[in-house]
Amino acid sequence: MAKETAAAGKIVIDLGVGDPDIPTPAPIVERAKHALDDPANHRYPFGAGLWDFREAVASYMDRRFGVTVDPSRQVLPLLGAKDAIAHLPLALLDPGQALLFTEPGYPAYRASAVLSGTEPVGVPLLESNAFLPRLEDVPAAIAERAGLFHMNYPNNPTGAAAPASFLRTAVAWAREREIVLCHDAPYLEISYTGRPAPSVLAGVDPDAAVVELHSLSKTFSMCGWRIGFAVGSESVIAALARVKSNVDTGVFLVAQHAAAEALNRAEELIPPLLEIYRRRRDLLVGGLRAAGWRVTPPDGTFYVWARVPTEESSVEFCRRVLRESGVVMTPGSGLAPAGEGYVRLAFTDSEERIAQACDRLGRR
Ligand SMILES: Cc1ncc(COP(=O)(O)O)c(C=O)c1O
Repeated sequence: MAKETAAAGKIVIDLGVGDPDIPTPAPIVERAKHALDDPANHRYPFGAGLWDFREAVASYMDRRFGVTVDPSRQVLPLLGAKDAIAHLPLALLDPGQALLFTEPGYPAYRASAVLSGTEPVGVPLLESNAFLPRLEDVPAAIAERAGLFHMNYPNNPTGAAAPASFLRTAVAWAREREIVLCHDAPYLEISYTGRPAPSVLAGVDPDAAVVELHSLSKTFSMCGWRIGFAVGSESVIAALARVKSNVDTGVFLVAQHAAAEALNRAEELIPPLLEIYRRRRDLLVGGLRAAGWRVTPPDGTFYVWARVPTEESSVEFCRRVLRESGVVMTPGSGLAPAGEGYVRLAFTDSEERIAQACDRLGRR
């Protein structure tokens, strides 16, 4: 519909997809250019990944989250967090087992269950529970069949952050039921509380079957580079590495060099990006409120999750707004049944375009 609207001559403002418009910071690009000139980096990236990258991950996890990981056994480079989302069920589950995931959420969780022949089970995130899953409501028979639980904070799409106390509860809950807990955490650094959101690995026994997926896509505006990493349980990392060695042979070495540079300079490179998102968030929330919407500023991520301000379904509302004003939003029901009644707006476009979008929404 967005394409048709643009073809009909309307200027479309796309707040639908969270694909940052900000370029990758220059020092990261420079390191990649340098690495590209070295023929050693043109070869297969076999094995557990570049040592420099894995050491950079270990240092980053310690500095930013107070988490100690062994770079030789507890770190695995990924082709983005999505890589692990798709491959963890193949590594860990038997067909017919259940895969739990928070929803509304990233559509790849459900798809990964479908692709692996496992049973997808969404655990709803409701506003009445601060968008945290009510683990006590997961039926015992399903928990019994489940082998993996994908949980995501700061949360796409709701923008909610999980307190460290909840993360500890989730670890204990999963452990008791012998379920591997995967914290899909690409937005840990996109946090507006003055510090990164907490890692699920903080204070966790190294034997616990818990992994965390980090991504450079959002934190360093590197979506197209396809790089992230899994950290945590040695046995889960080993199982994932085994699957990946049969699927993709690893992450381009140039991207690993660039990512090492990014992680080593996190304290210098992240604050300017975060400041841009904070300004955009405040502008969007203020603009939507001025247009009569009821919105809560997100604690993290670059999404606003807002109630549909009319009686329409989320799809009807998004269609009409696009037709009338050229603003693209994601209907909540597209992300899960629990998302009905909401729309998601991504602030991954300029302040000027966000202001224009709010202006159009106000005139709607
Ligand atoms: C919750 C969540 N997980 C994973 C991803 C995928 O990130 P990556 O680019 O690291 O594959 C996204 C991307 O939007 C996301 O929102």
